[in-house]
Amino acid sequence: MSMEAIDELRLSGLAQIETAASSADLEQLRVAVLGRNGSLTLMLRALGSIPADERAAVGRAVNSLRDEFESAFAARKALLADAELDAQIASGSLDITLPGRPMAIGSQHLISQITEEISEVFRGIGYTVVSGTEVETDYYNFTALNTPPDHPSRGLQDTFYIRDRSGDQAVIEGESDVVLRTQTSGVQVHTMEQQKPPIYILAPGRVFRRDAPDPTHLPQFSQIEGLVVDKGITFADLKGTMDFLCQQVFGSDRKTRFRTHFFPFTEPSAEVDVSCGVCGGVGCRFCKGTGWLEILGCGMVDPNVFGFVGIDPDEYSGFAFGLGIERTACLKYNVSDLRMLLEGDVRFLRQF
Ligand code: DAH
Repeated sequence: MSMEAIDELRLSGLAQIETAASSADLEQLRVAVLGRNGSLTLMLRALGSIPADERAAVGRAVNSLRDEFESAFAARKALLADAELDAQIASGSLDITLPGRPMAIGSQHLISQITEEISEVFRGIGYTVVSGTEVETDYYNFTALNTPPDHPSRGLQDTFYIRDRSGDQAVIEGESDVVLRTQTSGVQVHTMEQQKPPIYILAPGRVFRRDAPDPTHLPQFSQIEGLVVDKGITFADLKGTMDFLCQQVFGSDRKTRFRTHFFPFTEPSAEVDVSCGVCGGVGCRFCKGTGWLEILGCGMVDPNVFGFVGIDPDEYSGFAFGLGIERTACLKYNVSDLRMLLEGDVRFLRQF
């Protein structure tokens, strides 16, 4: 085998590749050159019988020709495939019955998932799920919830004020009466204004507070509010309902504990803790050694609130409760930082 023979094969081979008229012709040519008994393959095989002093140079030339052929075949193949597809489309013979590429489908966010789960639990015991508005007047967010104007939670520190009393100015400190609601509790007032007892409602929704985001705070988060007003409702009904809620959400092995607390719109009020799911109540880092995790606020509806909506406290009584959904999600799945719920990282979200 001489260098001339290699060169000849190179010239004729490349010319044939360039002029191959169809993918089928090209494939035939590829087999004739690079196939098991192809012209180039035979050359490679014959290298062994070449005198040792020429072998290295000839071997290099044949190998580099193989590389050259392979890329020429690939380039021509792509070109012909494009042209053939164009021709197929032009002649109307494209197979449109081929299945399409599947789209990646997302999943429900953990916050929506837990909201839906809790709503289902309460629908099951006869509650109606209602929604309020995220923009609220301070009458509904505070005053009618027995929270007088000098109450600290009204301060600009906690509340986003939207505009001043004239309606279209930017925020003037302490002058605005339109707020982004800081709690879903205002839905209690709207509901009691619109509907006579018996009332059994659940109100999930977004709330806003002037907090910098950190592992346990978000400036925007979600709550679920519950309200019951009926004849003869007692604290025992509240306790039973909260036990039921915690066991439905966290599992039947979890215990609850009521601690006395203050909320302006309930009297008496309590905070409810659920036993820690990580250590089973013995005490660990997650529950800061206490064995308990604070989960919600609740209480018996304050008669003053009934006064604002014209319900007779001698005829009716009721209870209310409110829980943070992000917090509930973190406690249920042992997530240590609330912000992870908002980052939109699908690798995190797909776990639930
Ligand atoms: N609104 C309260 C908060 O955001 C939570 C709350 C506490 C709601 C007691 C209630 C309740 O309905 O009775 O901190």
